[in-house]
Amino acid sequence: MSPSGTILLNQLHEQNTVETIGRARSQFHGSNEAFAELAEQYTSLAPRLRGKFLRMYGLSSEDSYFSQGTDLSLAVSAGMGHFLRNLVLSHRPARILELGSSVGVSTLYFADALCKLGRGTVVATELDSAKCARLREHVRMAGVESYVDLREGDVFQTVAELDGFFDFVFIDVWADTYLRLFRQIERLLRPGSIVLADNMYTAEDAVGTYKDYIEKNPGFSSTTLDFESGVEFTVVVS
Ligand SMILES: C[S@@+](CC[C@H](N)C(=O)[O-])C[C@H]1O[C@@H](n2cnc3c(N)ncnc32)[C@H](O)[C@@H]1O
Repeated sequence: MSPSGTILLNQLHEQNTVETIGRARSQFHGSNEAFAELAEQYTSLAPRLRGKFLRMYGLSSEDSYFSQGTDLSLAVSAGMGHFLRNLVLSHRPARILELGSSVGVSTLYFADALCKLGRGTVVATELDSAKCARLREHVRMAGVESYVDLREGDVFQTVAELDGFFDFVFIDVWADTYLRLFRQIERLLRPGSIVLADNMYTAEDAVGTYKDYIEKNPGFSSTTLDFESGVEFTVVVS
């Protein structure tokens, strides 16, 4: 990553943390002391329990009904970003499909890996035009424009217009659309393709049908990675 790209990503992670805490605080109907206590409990929980904990207190931000149209970036964590980058560096996909790009934090990790490899494209998808404008600006600031193909608009429409194969897909739109979306992209996958789906813990109920579909299909091999949000790591076997 260029020095300017690293500084930018650090700022975006910091901004995401502030947004997330601010959002949780505004949803929590209690004193500052009680909120601080909850925050302490949250950090001491195992990742797979955190989604349930947030839902129990009505603090979840991974919710389409509340998050659509707001400027919350809902970005992956730095740890997850580094993992995504390493996965691309080892798997070396020529094309990456990112479903739900927001302001481009995960896009920047993908583009940085492709830049290191010296080839490839990440097809980024985002509905919100204000987020698309911020993503374009971030990609320009990091100097990775030639590795990013942003498709602004509804992801279902975008996916319907794609052809060829993708060896790496990252699903990070609203969780209740995962299965419908996955069924649409199956034709773009081939044996060896990797599909990562975020929010398996944070939106456990909404992603249930997706997880069930993947687990019951012998053509896929899948496991949930214990990142804070819970990430389904699926490999297309046949
Ligand atoms: C969790 S955020 C993505 C975060 C991003 N992957 C990152 O880590 O930086 C989900 C994004 O999906 C977008 N989204 C939701 N439904 C969509 C749709 N039907 N078409 C395109 N984008 C959509 C939202 O606007 C939101 O910005």
